[in-house]
Amino acid sequence: MAEKDVTILGIETSCDETAASVVTNGRQIRSSVVASQTKLHEKYGGVVPELASRAHVEKILPIVEQAIAQADVTPDEIDAVAIANQPGLTISLMVGVTAAKTLAFAWDKPLIAVNHVHAHLQSALIESESVELPAVALIVSGGHSNLYDAESVLDLRLLGKTIDDAAGEAFDKVATILGLPYPGGPNIEKIAREGNPKAIRFPRSLMDKDSLDFSFSGLKTAVLYHCQGQDMKGENRVASMSHQEIADIAASFQAAVIDVLVKKTHRAAKKIGAKSVLMGGGVACNGALREAMEAMCQKENLAFISAPKSLCTDNAVMVASLAYYKYQAGQFADLTLEPKATSD
Ligand code: KG4
Ligand code: ZN
Repeated sequence: MAEKDVTILGIETSCDETAASVVTNGRQIRSSVVASQTKLHEKYGGVVPELASRAHVEKILPIVEQAIAQADVTPDEIDAVAIANQPGLTISLMVGVTAAKTLAFAWDKPLIAVNHVHAHLQSALIESESVELPAVALIVSGGHSNLYDAESVLDLRLLGKTIDDAAGEAFDKVATILGLPYPGGPNIEKIAREGNPKAIRFPRSLMDKDSLDFSFSGLKTAVLYHCQGQDMKGENRVASMSHQEIADIAASFQAAVIDVLVKKTHRAAKKIGAKSVLMGGGVACNGALREAMEAMCQKENLAFISAPKSLCTDNAVMVASLAYYKYQAGQFADLTLEPKATSD
């Protein structure tokens, strides 16, 4: 007998996107609605938690209603409500957690809590039929740069993480230094296409020989010194730089980040004898990173599976999809669920 379909409503509010999605059996995307707050935070050059939280409050119900309408399902047909309750901005997470608990209670459905960073990894797995194990997973976003030994999406062992800035955070901060609009990542990638990645040799922090941790703050400071002089007393030269000069700095910075991400992923793959490399998170949108990782994997005979660009940045498909595996494993939360700023 065919197994019963499982349809899950996923909700995501961990940072500055309010998102809801309905996914059946972990893979069939019935709807995906994302309300981005980019415009709201643009003039501050970064996410302002109080504004983010207030915008989530305004958007959460319309976005959930839209996701349900687009999926053409009734609450009766939904088997569980899933929420990313960690990590993230507590006052943003709180809005989604409250909405998910309320809906689960009102509809009398089970509640499933997922880890937002693990959900980013699930984005890479939605379209792939099978993964040859062991697998190394690189999750690179605005808040995280994590390497995992991925036994399955419910069984992740952290191998390394950033000791200071996350990769996406470095992109965003360097974009601010270069006077590029928020969010920095896509804008650096765009202008970097016109620049020479070898124009400036920015430092690549690989740390100890065996380290799988990341550090990007030295690179960010190197870009700052390059733009303002070693003593930081000099004029900020960016305003008087040519478009080409800025493009060269962006391309050289991006090349340094990519070099480190690829080298560390390779190091991790060797350490655990990996057969596959998985990649997800907002920075995984970056075309030059995708190409460099793919080239390394081909050379090293590793299968490479990246999240599709459409699912790299924050969305609720990844939440509803990961929740399906928790549903199958009987891993449910209860109405005492709280938001949590850090990962368990
Ligand atoms: O995963 P995500 O949407 O949110 C977090 O969980 O943090 O990632 C957002 C981050 C931002 O720092 C953004 O600048 C970066 O991903 N990003 C990129 C690109 N698109 C988004 N970084 C580099 N290149 C891109 N094309
Ligand atoms: Zn994210």
